[in-house]
Amino acid sequence: MNAGAYVRGRRSWIPGLGLRPRPEGRAWGRYCVALILAFVALLPAARSETPFRPAQAVLAHQAMVVSQEKRATRVGLEVLQNGGNAVDAAVAVAFALAVTHPQAGNLGGGGFMLIRLADGTASAIDYRETAPQAATRDMFLDHNGDYDPKKSRESGLAVGVPGTVAGLALALEKYGSGTFALADLMAPAIALARDGIPVEDELADSLPRAAPRLARFPAAAKIFLQSNGAALAPGDKLVQADLARALETIARQGPRAFYEGSISQRIVDSVREAGGILSREDLRDYRALERVPVRGSYRGYEILSTPPPSSGGVHLIEMLNILEAYPLDRLGARSTAALHLMIEAMKRAYADRAKFLGDADQVSVPVERLISKSYAAELRKTIDPEHATPAGALRAGGPAEHEGDHTTHFSVIDRFGNAVANTYTLNLNYGLGLVAEGTGILLNNELDDFAAKPGAPNAFGLIGGEANAPGPGKRPLSSMSPTIVLKDGKPWLITGSPGGSRIITIVLQVILDVIDFRQDIAQAVSAPRVHDQWLPDVVTAERGFAEDTIRRLEALGHRLYVGGTWGSANSILIAPDAITGAADPRTRGAAAEGE
Ligand code: DON
Repeated sequence: MNAGAYVRGRRSWIPGLGLRPRPEGRAWGRYCVALILAFVALLPAARSETPFRPAQAVLAHQAMVVSQEKRATRVGLEVLQNGGNAVDAAVAVAFALAVTHPQAGNLGGGGFMLIRLADGTASAIDYRETAPQAATRDMFLDHNGDYDPKKSRESGLAVGVPGTVAGLALALEKYGSGTFALADLMAPAIALARDGIPVEDELADSLPRAAPRLARFPAAAKIFLQSNGAALAPGDKLVQADLARALETIARQGPRAFYEGSISQRIVDSVREAGGILSREDLRDYRALERVPVRGSYRGYEILSTPPPSSGGVHLIEMLNILEAYPLDRLGARSTAALHLMIEAMKRAYADRAKFLGDADQVSVPVERLISKSYAAELRKTIDPEHATPAGALRAGGPAEHEGDHTTHFSVIDRFGNAVANTYTLNLNYGLGLVAEGTGILLNNELDDFAAKPGAPNAFGLIGGEANAPGPGKRPLSSMSPTIVLKDGKPWLITGSPGGSRIITIVLQVILDVIDFRQDIAQAVSAPRVHDQWLPDVVTAERGFAEDTIRRLEALGHRLYVGGTWGSANSILIAPDAITGAADPRTRGAAAEGE
């Protein structure tokens, strides 16, 4: 009996998801229920039947910036209008978002910037955080050897060495136009921090939720909360004077000023006070790295995406390879048959993610096999068009871990044809919530992306594999997937998203919507999404699917949870006659602007 197997946003229904204990015994059943409860608890609260208005397409002819905050979008556009290239603009947007979108924009976190220049050069700047040298396999376990989620999410132990400043500086040095110095591109961010910005849009929406976490650290409370402990509210101004000074120091002295000297000392002191093990040497030794993007093809389009230590590009290409053999266009957008195949592809890719993916500088990751067409053909043989494959019937490796609630993605194209897709994060909303005293810099809790212990559900009820175990200097596995799709050798689609483990399936669906289902980018970005990450064995679906489709998917054996929204896939589509930008409508304040 399937009654109650999907839930109209009513969490009280969740225990009735229709789960039956597996033959192995009740422990497995309890484990599944715990996983699903943990997973579903992470979903944003279900919104009304029409949770958001569809995105508005913004048209331009030469250049475009789409980011999650309108001031940052404007900063990027002005750089482009003043002769900068897409990388110059991206660097300016990233610094601006660190001020105007402190939930995820950052100096104290990390991410990936995918660059495709008009001359064909492609590069992935990896500025993912690293674990401190003192990190150990067991650093997130308690004295009984059990996983302690507080350590990996809520203490100084969670903080990885921030990569953002080094990454942005590296991108600018190697791929900027040469017209702008780092200080020029940081100037708008400095002014926004010093003069303040109104508390509105997603900043206003997110602060009350984050207030209890920010309140734990006086340096954060001083900036983001009122003296009575309540969050700054609409009508208030967010002034970040310390952050303005830290930015000025970096602008004056260069990026090393973040990693050596007084800023790094303050970061180390604050992290240690919060129970962490970061050292000055860890900061001094941090390097952003240039990597070769992963490449795939899909129905004649070329896919460029993010390599390890992100799992994003590998599994995006794996899913596309599986789906390429099916006539999705004939099956139809959001048809039961197409959704079933997409879900089955997702499940298989995420089972592989759990087992094989980690920091490829420290463990061996079979990237070539995972993105090969022949491997996809093998996986396709295991897909039954009439029945859902139970998660337990797939590979027995550790399942995918889930990652946090906030990250931000932006896309840029300039008039020369250079494209940038950038996704960066503090992991959870406002990261750890810890501000390094006197710097205004919010610090990440990215090390929660490690698999703290094989077989033990992490803070989100998920478990991960040995390849992603914590270790000194190691980069925790990411799902961030900034992606550029080429058509006839030129950038055609620039996309990416926040959304933790859902990032990869969000990007997949944007690509399928524009290629297979011939939707415009505003439709693709707005359309409801499904997600399956192998374990827990549940498909989450945003509102907006036909009731009938949901029932048919259940009849095929899928367990569905309907509700919530996720991601913010700020994307650009470039046609010969027009550039179209679409800011994801799921959060308030995102903006596309072009010229
Ligand atoms: O790197 C990752 O995959 C995660 N730390 C990203 C977290 C995230 O996207 C949360 N956002 N909504």
